[in-house]
Amino acid sequence: MTPPNNSSQETQEIIKKKTPSDFIFGKVIGEGSFSTVYLAKDVQTNKEFAIKVLEKAHIIREKKTEYVMREKEVLRILGNPCQYIVQLYSTFQDSSRLYFVLTYARNGDMCKHINLYKKFSFECTRYYTSELVLALEYLHSKNIIHRDLKPENILFDQNFHIIITDFGSAKIQEKNEEKSIETDKKRKNSFVGTAQFVSPEMLQECKSTKASDLWALGCIVFQMSSGQMPFTGGSEYLIFQKILKLEYKFPDGFNERVKDFVEKLLVIEPNKRLGVSDSTPYSEIRQHEMFHGIDFNNLGPPPKLS
Ligand code: ADE
Repeated sequence: MTPPNNSSQETQEIIKKKTPSDFIFGKVIGEGSFSTVYLAKDVQTNKEFAIKVLEKAHIIREKKTEYVMREKEVLRILGNPCQYIVQLYSTFQDSSRLYFVLTYARNGDMCKHINLYKKFSFECTRYYTSELVLALEYLHSKNIIHRDLKPENILFDQNFHIIITDFGSAKIQEKNEEKSIETDKKRKNSFVGTAQFVSPEMLQECKSTKASDLWALGCIVFQMSSGQMPFTGGSEYLIFQKILKLEYKFPDGFNERVKDFVEKLLVIEPNKRLGVSDSTPYSEIRQHEMFHGIDFNNLGPPPKLS
């Protein structure tokens, strides 16, 4: 196919790199160890964005260049927009900083809302679990493993749909890697993630696969439904011990259908987790009794948070 000629204004805009002066920077809406996220308005369109700003010197000093490049590459692969994944609109830099222009999620992160409501109702838990399943189906179909899924990285947009963010720890799964889980134990990834949501295989072998995101999903569903994390402790070491021993308890009154779902995800052996051996990902998850009455092709609007 012949590429369109570049004369239209639209194409010109896509090609022209933005600069910091194309935006009015507002309040800080997020802070990480290597970045600050600002609410910003495009001067020309008035559209709001979240701009992640990274200090070059800090990244180089802390040897995090690889992670920053990986995040950009992953977001570029995910460029074909998925409703539930943060979108990268553009990147630019000045002499000291890198800028990632991202979807602005107006309603904050899931952690804030779980704390506000203490826990989510069954209706909310299963609705947001369904959105997470669709998001993971999409990510994993692109061979991307998030590796740091947790309520802080699940944002809500203006209509209270989820937007998964922070791909700084993500990994692009290489061809054949999926099939070699059992055989190639020598190839290790460096440790990434957050203690409470990290999978046993990451702790034992420093290895993560798509199944590691499903472990994190189990932890998140537990937290939505109860307001508590399944694995907690006074130190990272103590949390890790509990994860490796699968030592967690459902609080009294925990919904039975959600309990069964969580138990099928929080399984030490990655290959035995619900959905992992699906020929069509994640049909086994979709068929779980927790989702009876949910149409995955049309989830409809979210229930009011409660
Ligand atoms: N905090 C971090 N990233 C954000 C985003 N994309 N939208 C809103 N708040 C954020």
